[in-house]
Amino acid sequence: MKHLLKLLDLTGDEIIEILNLADQLKYELKHGIKHHHLEGKSLGMIFQKSSTRTRVSFETGMYQLGGQALFLSSNDLQIGRGEPVQDTARVLSRYLDGIMIRTFEQSEVEALAKYGSIPIINGLTDFCHPCQVLADLMTIREFKGRLDGLKMCFIGDGNNMMNSLIVGGLKTGMSVSVACPKDYQPPKEILEFAYESGRFEMFTDPMKAAENADVILTDVWASMGQEEEKAIREKAFAGYQVNAEMMKVANEGCMVLHCLPAHRGEEITEEVMEAHADEIFEEAENRLHAQKAVMVMLMK
Ligand code: CP
Ligand code: NVA
Repeated sequence: MKHLLKLLDLTGDEIIEILNLADQLKYELKHGIKHHHLEGKSLGMIFQKSSTRTRVSFETGMYQLGGQALFLSSNDLQIGRGEPVQDTARVLSRYLDGIMIRTFEQSEVEALAKYGSIPIINGLTDFCHPCQVLADLMTIREFKGRLDGLKMCFIGDGNNMMNSLIVGGLKTGMSVSVACPKDYQPPKEILEFAYESGRFEMFTDPMKAAENADVILTDVWASMGQEEEKAIREKAFAGYQVNAEMMKVANEGCMVLHCLPAHRGEEITEEVMEAHADEIFEEAENRLHAQKAVMVMLMK
């Protein structure tokens, strides 16, 4: 593994290897065992979109590993004034040991990797959110003791989260069902991969997708950059809500996860959110551990 651009590039074994290291780093952190694997190293963090979890977990994670992280807002970088990504990649490669980037186009992340000479980590694009899903898988395994054979269900938009969950779930042996409105399905590339596994189902009826689920996940109806579509999307996604009714058709002990930020009363009810807060905030914490594992594997 040279970069983390999307989960499609990783094998199931590589994903499990990241999760195993993440568990170990979590244990060490909780027990005060120092792990300065990245002493003297610098991570650049390019943000073209807002962030709470990604920014703070990468920055803190880098510090805990003995290195440093630089917050690079695209508003302040020349990239925001049109300097090509090919040039930015080649320049930053000469100062830094790794780059985490959050942006719109997946092609920009791929271009950084192509032209740069240091590891690139995708901190969210419109296409995928691999770091989040590594934390999600880590959390499911932590609560359920395994991934293989479990049923994951995603309710909502065929967006970055749905895409990465489908790939991450299937690659680690889970079966995956999703529910989304007809006009909001995941892209062809993801659906082709998904159907090939023989463990994937897609519905328009959210209750059908949730049947016998071991873990239900959801995400906002309008992602960053889609603010103008908010009203249209509220109509399209009405009914695509994780609520108490839905939990009744899932398996007993079904987990609920949300990448956050959550919109209570839209994609998830306050009641379900609070009932599963232990899982959801462990998931948020696990961003830290999973990303530290990724950085150690790529940058050590
Ligand atoms: N889940 C997630 O990526 O959160 P942030 O947008 O706050 O980084
Ligand atoms: N789908 C959401 C995820 C946020 C972490 C977005 O892209 O805004």
